[in-house]
Amino acid sequence: MTNWKHKHIIDLAKFSREDYLAVFELANRFKVLPITGTRKIPALQGRLITTLFFEASTRTRSSFELAAKRLSADVQSFSANSSSLQKGETPLDTALTYISMGADVLIIRHSSTNLSEEIAHYLDEKNINTSILNAGDGVHSHPSQGLLDIFTLANFFQPNNPVPDILSGKNITIVGDILHSRVARSNLWALTACGANVILCGPKSLLPEEFSNFIKEPPPGQKIDPIKNRGKVIIMRSLKDALKGSDAVMTLRLQKERMQGNLITDFYRYNRDYGITHENLKVCEKKIPILHPGPVNRGIEISSDLLEDNSRSLIDKQVRNGIPIRMALLYLLTTSKKHSN
Ligand code: NCD
Repeated sequence: MTNWKHKHIIDLAKFSREDYLAVFELANRFKVLPITGTRKIPALQGRLITTLFFEASTRTRSSFELAAKRLSADVQSFSANSSSLQKGETPLDTALTYISMGADVLIIRHSSTNLSEEIAHYLDEKNINTSILNAGDGVHSHPSQGLLDIFTLANFFQPNNPVPDILSGKNITIVGDILHSRVARSNLWALTACGANVILCGPKSLLPEEFSNFIKEPPPGQKIDPIKNRGKVIIMRSLKDALKGSDAVMTLRLQKERMQGNLITDFYRYNRDYGITHENLKVCEKKIPILHPGPVNRGIEISSDLLEDNSRSLIDKQVRNGIPIRMALLYLLTTSKKHSN
């Protein structure tokens, strides 16, 4: 059994090499369960997993709920629109209500950066045993998405032995609205931890120069980076240059609801300069796979026919791999006792 130390999973900046290995090892075991006919295992029988989504979600929420059910946990699902939030209750009080009912893990999504972390601190101070799993907080972090993305890439590059190390030296391009993307930030930590180089590509308004320093220092409140040799982060403004030597490309939605002001008004121009199509993939030195966390805006960041081209698109595999990855995270949080944070 792994030496798992985390009580909460807020972001991937704290993840060590051993943590990535532990998640991959379990996800690889859980991934084959549907193939062997064993859809459900009793690992978390009697445990209570609660999804607390204050923000919209299609994939993440249902994937976490399915993951919990496949481990035989009880699942409670909170819906912001029909809750007492409407009567002025705070998110912390909402969280405490579910903790009083016995939640072992609260999976939280909220538009405000740091909400998950603040609730986690509160619980630690009060010696409350419940774990917090961040399912997206503002533009900060979306750890389970970063993990399922690197797991999908590792499965693509080496299907018979998908280990984190297989990403070492690979050039992975992330295109589009990096500034508002918690998915891009979690991928930056995860990919560079595995030794991959990340090429960020987008216009200045959605990709400020400061991103090249993103992983140079651990985030505030964290003294050390547990990863010794990270891959590089490189900014390129030209999609053609970025794609040329890439081993994979991930494109992102223009996250208008997270933008302050109209950063992009000319969608035709954005699509022309940064949209991914079969045509502009012709510059690549090899046939590279396409990833997208969803939801997709067809015809803006990616063309419809590329999206549906299963010989290129790993989007369906990202969705599938989300289940064993989230099973692994829930399993690790609920079954390991020694917590350092
Ligand atoms: C993303 C998110 O919510 O951060 N989606 C997801 O969880 N799969 C990406 C997005 O909103 O564009």
